[in-house]
Amino acid sequence: MGNYPFIQVPLISGGMIIAHIALVHVLLAHYSVGTGILLFGLEKADPDGKNEGIQSALDLLGVSIIYINFVIGAITGVGIWFSISIFSADATQFLIQKFVWLWGVEWTFFAVEIIIGYLYYYNRRLLPYKARKKLAFLYMVFTWLSLVVITGILGFMMTANEGSAISSWASASTWPSIGLRTISSISLACLVLMVLVNIKIFFNFNNESHEKRSVFQVIDGHLRWVFLMLPFGLWYRATLPATSITYAEGSSIPISMFLMLTGFFSVIITVTAWYAYLHKRILQIEIAGVLLLLAIVTTCSTEFVREGIRKPYIIQPVIYSNGIRKKDLNEWQKQVKLNKSVLLVNSLYPYTPKHKEAGQWLLPDKLNYYNMTRVERGKYIFQSQCSNCHTINGFNALKHAVRGWEDKNFAEGVLRNLHISKPFMPPFIGSESDQADLINFAQTLN
Ligand code: HEC
Repeated sequence: MGNYPFIQVPLISGGMIIAHIALVHVLLAHYSVGTGILLFGLEKADPDGKNEGIQSALDLLGVSIIYINFVIGAITGVGIWFSISIFSADATQFLIQKFVWLWGVEWTFFAVEIIIGYLYYYNRRLLPYKARKKLAFLYMVFTWLSLVVITGILGFMMTANEGSAISSWASASTWPSIGLRTISSISLACLVLMVLVNIKIFFNFNNESHEKRSVFQVIDGHLRWVFLMLPFGLWYRATLPATSITYAEGSSIPISMFLMLTGFFSVIITVTAWYAYLHKRILQIEIAGVLLLLAIVTTCSTEFVREGIRKPYIIQPVIYSNGIRKKDLNEWQKQVKLNKSVLLVNSLYPYTPKHKEAGQWLLPDKLNYYNMTRVERGKYIFQSQCSNCHTINGFNALKHAVRGWEDKNFAEGVLRNLHISKPFMPPFIGSESDQADLINFAQTLN
């Protein structure tokens, strides 16, 4: 509750905007890390640079590094910052303050990655083997290091450790997560290349069957590590808080279904990868394409699970999705009692605009609490506490959630127990009058 002014996205909610930009970015970022690892593997497989199949693969990866990793990857990365700063200002501020040095380190890694990427792209065919192998190696290391830094910050959001930035970064879920993301990166890059090898216009072969096989050998050699998903997944599970585990294993049906999808698709990819590896098979474009699709769906659904099992928190267990810090709950309740309404509480947070500190900081300047109807006030309470997860009549619509709220007693019971009956919601903060305001607003929806 500090995101003033509130920016509402009708029908899909701000959260979904963040999620979609983030999904595209995660796919590209994983693919980038994977291309780094594959680049090094391919360079090692063709020291004299005469295998045109491998050289075409390296050319393709070079182009994709410049256009996909550096251009689209960077744009979507900035897109995430932009969207989270609008829709989750509190958590964004918290993460920037806590990890300012680590963000700096990550941006430095990215800058180095760009320099090495361009050096490699423009000079590869001119350089001796040792030099291009070295550049490919450095590119691999720096892209992977970016992943390591970011994964630590994501790990903090899952299993926060309220110590120093470094110890928080190293919170329990960080380590298995680095393993999971590394393997997912390798798989994505391998499967993209596996599709491309089958498309004639991308490859110049001197001796097609031999050279195609050598590219496949490198791909299969990397892709077989996908079986490590299972042990890393189990390790990750062991680090999660109990509530997160219950969501993923039954108590939340959508989250459990996505988790099952992830597991099932990973098994299909693993079995096919091992089959191709052991039998030295060249997979045709249809199979490679289906596997790539499965890998993309798996990556997206894993992100959905990671997002879902953190609820009601955005930073577990520190900040709720609606921006309220858990440690401030008592202070909020005390202030609500004193001021009679949550809309009249002075901000607990220092970054509220100064003129707002005199009270009613959740309302726009021109509105006065005392002149507003209950329905109008209810709408502001909804915006400040519920709209991070609910829209009015679109995705996860409040309109549908409040069926049965014509009965005021029933509605009051639901609100009072919001966080108990549905533990993925934060507790409601407000006085009895606020409850009545919110209920009045909700009643206008159906
Ligand atoms: C952290 C995200 C989040 C926040 C914040 C949140 N909700 Fe929810 N809420 C959910 C989810 C997820 C569901 C479940 C949807 C489902 O089961 O289909 C839900 C369901 C509900 C339901 C239906 C409960 C039931 O028993 O079926 C009601 C009512 C509701 N929310 C009201 C609210 C109100 C009022 C607020 C603000 C005070 C709020 N929610 C804040 C995520 C949230």
